[in-house]
Amino acid sequence: MDSGRSGTIGLEGDQPPTDKDLAVHQSPSDQERRLRVGVVGIGWAGRQHLEAYANSADVEIVGLAGMEPDLLAELRDEYGIPHAVERWEDLIALDGLDAISVAVPTFLHAPITVAALERGLHVLSEKPIARNGDEGQLMVDAARKAGRVLDVAFNHRRRGDITALKRVLDDGELGRPYYAKASWLRRAGIPSLGSWFTNREMAGGGPLADIGVHVIDYALHLLGEPKVLSVSASTYSELGPQGRGGGGEYSAQAVGSAFEVEDFASAFMRLEGGATLLVEAGWAAYRDTDDLLDFRIYGTDGGAQLTRAGAPYSAVESLHVYTEKGDYEPEVGPSLGHQGVVDDFLAAIRAGEAEWGRHDGSLALGRARIIDACYASAARHREVEL
Ligand SMILES: NC(=O)c1ccc[n+]([C@@H]2O[C@H](COP(=O)([O-])OP(=O)(O)OC[C@H]3O[C@@H](n4cnc5c(N)ncnc54)[C@H](O)[C@@H]3O)[C@@H](O)[C@H]2O)c1
Repeated sequence: MDSGRSGTIGLEGDQPPTDKDLAVHQSPSDQERRLRVGVVGIGWAGRQHLEAYANSADVEIVGLAGMEPDLLAELRDEYGIPHAVERWEDLIALDGLDAISVAVPTFLHAPITVAALERGLHVLSEKPIARNGDEGQLMVDAARKAGRVLDVAFNHRRRGDITALKRVLDDGELGRPYYAKASWLRRAGIPSLGSWFTNREMAGGGPLADIGVHVIDYALHLLGEPKVLSVSASTYSELGPQGRGGGGEYSAQAVGSAFEVEDFASAFMRLEGGATLLVEAGWAAYRDTDDLLDFRIYGTDGGAQLTRAGAPYSAVESLHVYTEKGDYEPEVGPSLGHQGVVDDFLAAIRAGEAEWGRHDGSLALGRARIIDACYASAARHREVEL
């Protein structure tokens, strides 16, 4: 993956430094006011971070890293970024950076995050936190040691429908929830056959780690963060190895990988307090062509059903609440997505040291431990306790 080339692409080629080039060396008083950020990775995820920072007040994007030279130059020009480099090592070495986003293949989350934290930078990593819990633990330990923010991008919990349902649950309208089912299923949505996503060493897992982590995250968030006591999971790899199920709309970095991960996963989770969460995550299966994001929850006083069919952010959405007092459809506000994630990250940094300890990546680490247990359960064909 690493071509061995490195270096900074200036905004205007090899011309003398501009004011923007020098911005990373501005005075400490400026530093207090503006946050100087960098983004590593220019795939779909990195571009979400870029756009969100560009929309944020008092933020200067001083560096961008990615291995696609044409796209890198295009984004550098579009966003007026002084330093565009190929390698992440050159990005985190820039003077004056406050924070970076890490939006690269999952095997690079831990090394980049730990190196950046050791340089005193705050880090917003993409999901999943890492390939597994042990790597995630290294990141959390590094954040605690450095005393810096480590956030992980769980943008789906910032969807309008999830936020609306959270309000319903927080208001106690469903009573005590005892059963929930959360699914994200695709017909042909392997994020590129042959890409890093299908390589076990690079990705750590298939759809359970990729899209399952989102539904596990918002399901547990909606349920009030109960501890997961045990999981019983099964994984399948039936279509990907046959070259089927590749998603046309996905174009992740190609590495020529064989299909080494699962293409479908299901997990039954026993939660503290007696509730159950059932999760389904599939990149590929013989089903309807639209993505299905489905969440059902049953409580002692009510239930709710949330359905999205189609791409997650352009989808038709329906959210129904069923109670003894009557059934209704709560108002659904806009989806904040990555803007919400980036806004929270910037707010946490600006809140100062007292807040930083609460942003140490441990929630995302918990999600990784659950996914580890699911893979262990699938491999052993039995329930695994956490
Ligand atoms: N939160 C979400 O909704 C969401 C959606 C898609 C992907 N993601 C996550 O974002 C991450 C990236 O996914 P993607 O779909 O954008 O992948 P991608 O393959 O499209 O992009 C990966 C980027 O990383 C860059 N990269 C790889 N090695 C590098 C290196 N050594 N130095 C600098 N840059 C390097 C590549 O050049 C490329 O620009 C993954 O962790 C994925 O799970 C999150």
